[in-house]
Amino acid sequence: MNASTTAAERAATGRTTAITNIATLVTNDPSLGEGPLGLIQDAAVVLDGDRVAWIGTTSKAPATDSHVDAGGRAGIPGFVDSHSHLVFGGDRTAEFNARMSGRAYSAGGIRTTVAATRAATDEQLHANVAKYLAEALRQGTTTLETKSGYGLNVEDEARALRIAAAHTDEVTFLGAHIVSPDYADDPAGYVDLVTGPMLDACAPHARWIDVFCEQGAFDGDQARTILTAGKAKGLLPRVHANQLHHGPGVQIAVELDAASADHCTHLDAADIDALANSATVATLLPGAEFSTRARWPDARPLLDAGATVALSTDCNPGSSFTSSMPFCIALAVRDMKMTPDEAVWAATAGGAAALRRTDVGRLTPGARADLALLDAPSHVHLAYRPGVPLVSDVWHRGVRV
Ligand code: NIG
Ligand code: FE
Repeated sequence: MNASTTAAERAATGRTTAITNIATLVTNDPSLGEGPLGLIQDAAVVLDGDRVAWIGTTSKAPATDSHVDAGGRAGIPGFVDSHSHLVFGGDRTAEFNARMSGRAYSAGGIRTTVAATRAATDEQLHANVAKYLAEALRQGTTTLETKSGYGLNVEDEARALRIAAAHTDEVTFLGAHIVSPDYADDPAGYVDLVTGPMLDACAPHARWIDVFCEQGAFDGDQARTILTAGKAKGLLPRVHANQLHHGPGVQIAVELDAASADHCTHLDAADIDALANSATVATLLPGAEFSTRARWPDARPLLDAGATVALSTDCNPGSSFTSSMPFCIALAVRDMKMTPDEAVWAATAGGAAALRRTDVGRLTPGARADLALLDAPSHVHLAYRPGVPLVSDVWHRGVRV
């Protein structure tokens, strides 16, 4: 509890809430409970304003202003979705249909969304971001990163970031998604634009800088140049790395101390070793492999080597049009050799690590009051009952949504 506030004051403001009778609570704080997830049985959480004030067993819960009986449901920290692309116009149903008829996914499909995004009004883009953010929140996501990358000129990239920043604090400049169609014959000129006037216009609206380091997008030297320029402007790097082929993306991410190397589908032993011996999180995005019918990333060697693994949706209209973290957990457990415990950690604490955040992704006194109740007795049901909408109640910054 907040020591500077008396019980009478708290009663007057009605700010503290106890959520009791949580069958199994994931805290992600091993000092609070059992194992790496810090599991507590028959748990209670006390929220004070937008913060967690107390965690323990129901029988020891302190008196509070209001009370919610979880009725034997499970509790988890709100999901931290550290990788999405929500500022876009149009959709790519036709491309998805073609893919499901056998056509391969390629980075070139991004151009379709660039044209639709440039043609969209600010109001349409705001409404789109708000819609998918609300959809994610209903499914338990309480922290969400999102990117530019479908503007690919100075004005439309800066616009995308301004729009993203109106909805979330975790905003990433991805002017280097593909070479802009305006520079199709001059990729070097596009890198100059991204590292010059575009970066100047975009840096004030973003926390992160990202590059799609991939055949058909940006090579290793270009990625290093762009990320280094972003760092010089105060942006922190993260990288789309090793998605479609093996390449230098993971090594560059580690070399530049990127917070995260995202995708990590095609790794060799040196990549796994580099990730395991760095602070760079390996963020796996199984929605992309699902929706492109690609080979799954293998989480096992990463986890066994000691790398930090995060799970995220990569929600975008091309390669992964899902906002559902529970769906990603189920895929990771079924097809990427993660245990349910590992997958739930990766979708909460792992995502927080990928955003270099310590205030979210865990339920511990002082953390942000972001949590979800599941219509199930434990978090394992997120993988055991795939496709079932188990998230029944969500608190975001202490407010029940
Ligand atoms: O993370 N890999 C690059 N970017 C996105 C796909 C974007 C698109 O196809 O529109 C991704 O999968
Ligand atoms: Fe992505």
